[in-house]
Amino acid sequence: MNSQSRTVSARDRLIVALDVPTQTEALNFVRDLSPEVSFFKIGLQLYTAAGPEIVRAVLATSAKVFLDLKLHDIPNTAARTVESAVCLGAQMLTIHLSGGAEMIGAAIAARKNSLSILGVTVLTSATEETLRKIGVSDTIDSYVLRLAKVGVAGGIDGLVASPREVKMLRAQFGAKIKLVVPGIRPSWSEVGDQKRVMTPREALDAGADYLVIGRPIIAHPRPREAVTKILNEIES
Ligand code: C5P
Repeated sequence: MNSQSRTVSARDRLIVALDVPTQTEALNFVRDLSPEVSFFKIGLQLYTAAGPEIVRAVLATSAKVFLDLKLHDIPNTAARTVESAVCLGAQMLTIHLSGGAEMIGAAIAARKNSLSILGVTVLTSATEETLRKIGVSDTIDSYVLRLAKVGVAGGIDGLVASPREVKMLRAQFGAKIKLVVPGIRPSWSEVGDQKRVMTPREALDAGADYLVIGRPIIAHPRPREAVTKILNEIES
């Protein structure tokens, strides 16, 4: 593999989370980080502030959009929201697998080929103590696996899980399921509220397809430099 193709594949695996409060800040990051970054995640903070216009604006730069709305609603509402996301042109959308088989089925039935539906298993900020407090007695691994099986049986395109569960999920489901992994912390960055973390290289070695990285890049004093460091680490 030459260095050009290595660079392209490293870039293709990185999704930067635009967790900022305004459209202006988000588009500044998109301009500043392109073309090294070509995939951006728009989550609840930015979508609530800037609405569908920010999705269109990022897509207009020819970057891809991962719309991280983490749907958890009745099947009809989930399905109609998936239709709206298809119209917007986003490439990925998240639903919570804990919404259950019926909601998952309705969301999958409503999506078109251009949109991948990803199932969120257990948030990367959660610990077993978090599960106990909501009445779940499973270990994190067994709860993640249980939810993932419901998602895969329902036709989900990919799973969102912490890097620590990637090996288990890859072994269970093989290559056909995309594994999209937040909770990524390069060794030089702060962990913050994330609990089940790994470095970019460790997560890829474990079998992740995409790395979702927010604060280590967007809260870095020189975000472009952070991206370069991460891409170099991925390629090393
Ligand atoms: O700043 P940081 O790198 O922790 O950002 C991680 C991003 O991934 C956030 O936008 C968060 O909402 C999202 N996410 C997560 N854990 C999940 C699903 C999504 O951290 N299980």
